[in-house]
Amino acid sequence: MRSLVDLPVSLSRRSAVPLSTQLAGWLREAMLAGTLAPGERLPSSRGLAAQLGVSRTVITEAFQQLYAEGWLEGRHGSGTFVACLETPRSGPLSSTPSPAPASDNGRVAEAIDLRPGHPWVRDYDRAAWKRAWRKAGDLPPGGHPDPHGLPRLRELLAGHLRRVRSVAVGPENILVTRGTGNGLDLCALALLGGGRAGVEEPGYHVARTVLAARGAEVVPCPVDEDGVIVDDLPNDLGLLYTTPAHQYPLGGRLPIPRRERLLAWARSTGAMVVEDDYDAEFRYDVAPLPALYGLDPSRVVLLGTLSKSLAPDVGVGWLVGSPELVARIAALREELSDRTSGPVQQAVATLLERGDLDRHLRRMRLEYARRRAVIVETLGPVCRLRGDTAGLHVLAELSPDTSGGIVERARELGVLLDSTERHHHGWERLHGLVIGYGSASLPEVRRGCRIVADLIAGAGAARVAGVRAG
Ligand SMILES: Cc1ncc(COP(=O)(O)O)c(C=O)c1O
Repeated sequence: MRSLVDLPVSLSRRSAVPLSTQLAGWLREAMLAGTLAPGERLPSSRGLAAQLGVSRTVITEAFQQLYAEGWLEGRHGSGTFVACLETPRSGPLSSTPSPAPASDNGRVAEAIDLRPGHPWVRDYDRAAWKRAWRKAGDLPPGGHPDPHGLPRLRELLAGHLRRVRSVAVGPENILVTRGTGNGLDLCALALLGGGRAGVEEPGYHVARTVLAARGAEVVPCPVDEDGVIVDDLPNDLGLLYTTPAHQYPLGGRLPIPRRERLLAWARSTGAMVVEDDYDAEFRYDVAPLPALYGLDPSRVVLLGTLSKSLAPDVGVGWLVGSPELVARIAALREELSDRTSGPVQQAVATLLERGDLDRHLRRMRLEYARRRAVIVETLGPVCRLRGDTAGLHVLAELSPDTSGGIVERARELGVLLDSTERHHHGWERLHGLVIGYGSASLPEVRRGCRIVADLIAGAGAARVAGVRAG
C-alpha cells in the first residue's frame, strides 16, 4: 500500500473550500489521471488523517462522497479501494460517430457536446444486447401485437417500476408505448378532445408540438426553481404535462407539499396530470421522491421511456394509468393501427428478465455521477447550479442576457452549449446554461466545463442569488 503523502496532495486551511471537499477533489483527479489505479488500496482513514495532519472526519467525509459517486469501494474487513468500474463483459461498443466539427474556421477539429437531451449510448453490454436480439429472433414474426403491449413485458415493467420508482402497479396498469412522444400523443387523443392543455414554461418543446398537433390549445404554465407553480395554474385545463422528478430544462424537483397541491388542483378542476418521468432512474445524493402517480392514480398518467436509461433508438416506453384508461387507450390504438414493434418488445423483455437493464443502469449511474461531480466541482465555484441532484443535465444560472454570448464564444472554442432561451415561450424567470452530460465523456466534460467556467468568470455573468416564487 502506498502512502498518499508520497503523492502531491496539498490541502489549504485558508481556502473557503472545506478540507474534505478539497481532498475528495484531489483524489478524484488522481483517479481520473490514473495516478491512483483501479483496485488500489487507500490508506486507512486514521492513517491518512495522521499523514495529512487533519481530523479523521475530514477523511471519512471525503471517502463518503467518493463512495456515493462510485469512485471508491469497500471490501469487507480489508479497507477502501479505488473502484473497478463494472465494464461490459465483451467490452464497450464505440460505434457512435465522433462529435461533429464545432466551427468551420479550422481552429477546432472536434466539439465537446454539453447540450442536454442525449444519453450516453457508446457503452453497453454487447453480449447482453445480442442475446436479447437472438432470443427475439427465435420467435416467428406475428400478426398485430396486443395494443396494450406484450403481456410478458408489461409484467416485467410492473416489477421494474415497483423496484425503481416505488409505484404499486400491476400489468393491468401498463401499456407499452414507443416512447414519451407516443405516450403523450395517445393521452391527448384519449383525454383532451381538442381542449386546453398546460405545458410547463420553460418546458419540453416536443410536448408542445405533440399537443398542438392534436388540436389542443397549448397553455404555458410557469415553473420556478422547484417545478410547476401550482397556484398559477388555470382552472380550465383538460390536461397538464409536467416533469416533477427533474423539471426539463430547469432541473427542479417538485416538493411534496406542492405535489399535494397539484393533485388537489387536478381533483378540483377535473384535469388529468401527465407525469413525464423521463430520467427518474438517475439520482445523486438524494433519496428519490416516489412518482406523483402513486399519490393519486385516478388523476395521473405516468409516462416512462428507455430513451434516457438505454437509448432513444430502441423506441420503447410505457404509459401507466388506471386499468380503465389503459383499456380505453388500447382500444384507440387499435382504431389507429398504432403499435409498438413486437420483436423490439421481446428483446427489451429479455434485457429486463435477465437483469441486464438493471446492470446497465447501475453502471450508467456511476458514470453520470462522476460527470456530474466534475461539473459541480468546476462550475460550482463560478455560478449557481440548479437541478444537479438528478438526471443528465444541470442549470448553470446566469444573469439575464449573458448566456447567448457565452454559448457563441464556447462554440468558437469547441464546446457546444444550450441556453434556457431556446426552451422558453415568452415568460422567463431563470436564465442560464442548460448543461447536459449525456453525450460527452468524463474527460470531455472536465475539459468543456473548465472552458465554460473561464468564460463565466470572465464575463462576470454568474447569478448567485436565486429568485423564489411566492
Ligand atoms: C423531457 C423529456 N421527456 C422525454 C424524453 C424522451 O422522449 P422519447 O421517449 O419520446 O424519446 C426526452 C428526451 O430528450 C425529454 O427531454
